[in-house]
Amino acid sequence: MNKNFYITTPIYYPSAKPHMGHAYSSIIADFFARFKRIQGYKVFFLTGTDEHGQKIQRAAENKNMDPKAFCDEISKTFFDLSKTLNLSNDDFIRTTEERHKKSVENLWNILEKKNEIYLSKYSGWYSVSDEAFYSEEEIDTKNNIKISKISGSQVEWVEEESFFFKLSKWQEPLLKFYNENPDFILPVSRRNEVISFVKSGLKDLSVSRKSFSWGIKVPSNNDHVIYVWLDALTNYISALNYPDTNNSLYKSYWPATLHLIGKDILRFHAVYWPAFLLAANLPPPKRVYGHGWILSGEEKMSKSKDNILDPLEIIDTYGLDPLRYYLIKEVSFGNDGNISKEKLENCINSDLANNYGNLCQRVVSFIEKNLDLKVPNNYSLINEDENVLKIYNESFNKLIDSIDTQNVNFYVNFIQEQLFSANKYFNDQEPWNKKDDAVRLNTILYVSLELIRKISILLYPIIPNSSLKALKIFNINEDQIDFNSIKIHENIKKNDKLNKISIMFKKID
Ligand code: MSP
Repeated sequence: MNKNFYITTPIYYPSAKPHMGHAYSSIIADFFARFKRIQGYKVFFLTGTDEHGQKIQRAAENKNMDPKAFCDEISKTFFDLSKTLNLSNDDFIRTTEERHKKSVENLWNILEKKNEIYLSKYSGWYSVSDEAFYSEEEIDTKNNIKISKISGSQVEWVEEESFFFKLSKWQEPLLKFYNENPDFILPVSRRNEVISFVKSGLKDLSVSRKSFSWGIKVPSNNDHVIYVWLDALTNYISALNYPDTNNSLYKSYWPATLHLIGKDILRFHAVYWPAFLLAANLPPPKRVYGHGWILSGEEKMSKSKDNILDPLEIIDTYGLDPLRYYLIKEVSFGNDGNISKEKLENCINSDLANNYGNLCQRVVSFIEKNLDLKVPNNYSLINEDENVLKIYNESFNKLIDSIDTQNVNFYVNFIQEQLFSANKYFNDQEPWNKKDDAVRLNTILYVSLELIRKISILLYPIIPNSSLKALKIFNINEDQIDFNSIKIHENIKKNDKLNKISIMFKKID
């Protein structure tokens, strides 16, 4: 079985500072990466910034800055955010790096050599904000302004010499590929959208621009820069040292297991990207998952709509793990979701402070008072104990499957149910009334410790810092976390010395 896992976020435009929508894609990707690591996979997790094109050139001009200097400054805020969000990414790629330029030029040369690219003239609509070409049918007029029906962003008329990629030729091979790989595009509703778009007929795609200069030059014709999406998508293989397809990174991790993206950029990832790769005789990625949007009111949160929420402010006020927990739990994965401070505060108080933090605190203090912080040794499990423990064994494969099918909601619901059940177990068993029955008392405490251990492992991909604090009770460090161990009823060693735990979550008044 292939135990390698390659996951990517979209690379972000450093046209303005990051907002909550960007943080969302990154946090979800980190969740999958961390889970696969503790499951025992070798993981490569990539994120970065997408720095070429007209959008960035204009943003730099507005600030009177050289585009590279501009990108250096804003890309750094994305890099810093990756640290603040505690992302476990293995690389951070910038498309202005030499390694990436080399990779894009190489892919271009192969496509040209294989006769997949030809020179002609483009006349049509272009949205700088989306960096996308739109057909006449995809255009609307609102207040005398031409906009894209799909994104709502303004389009402008472009007429210039351009290189074209023979996308039309890949219509049937793409449909065949979707058919043979039914899980290539998820969720299913998005897959249907893509298939009907491809079935409606693919036109050749303009893949170079001549009227501005901020980009990677077409190797055979320096008057043109390569279309920013062909440039950007290639980042996923540049980071694996493409064009060297014999190196161990590329060999271990391509094709990517999962490109996690927002639904707005599905067409680029599910149509153009596999077409470029098939044309270059490279394997397409295994899956593209298009998640929903973080809304602000009813609208997509975005810089151009001026309705953004700054993740740094939220983290300053509430802390990182509460934000990670909230985004993963409250935004039903695959759908759009709203973020409100009230719901966030609710999550902190009820799920994190009351259900998780309090459970850890109560059990450990009880053991401190009664057993001198030692793991009980003379215990004996009876039915009610087996019952709360066996669910982890029974659900083990379903949990893995939920991650492998991006069913985040199943995974999160399972944790919530187990938190509830662990608290109920401790309350119902009333260890404080069992002081005359040493074996029973020891058993209840042992089982409660096991439940804390299992739940903390499950929570690690969501709230790594808090989970690690709890796992410290058992002296388990980050590199010792093993998801497979949740199956084992009695994993904690008798007589081991436990550690005290400090307050994990502050309640909000
Ligand atoms: N640079 C391109 C992606 C190239 S990938 C080869 C791009 N960049 S972006 O900065 O505009 O957006 C990147 C991603 O951020 C989106 O696809 C999406 O994943 C995420 N989000 C941006 N705004 C968002 C929300 N309001 N909500 C959720 N995610 C959104 O597109």
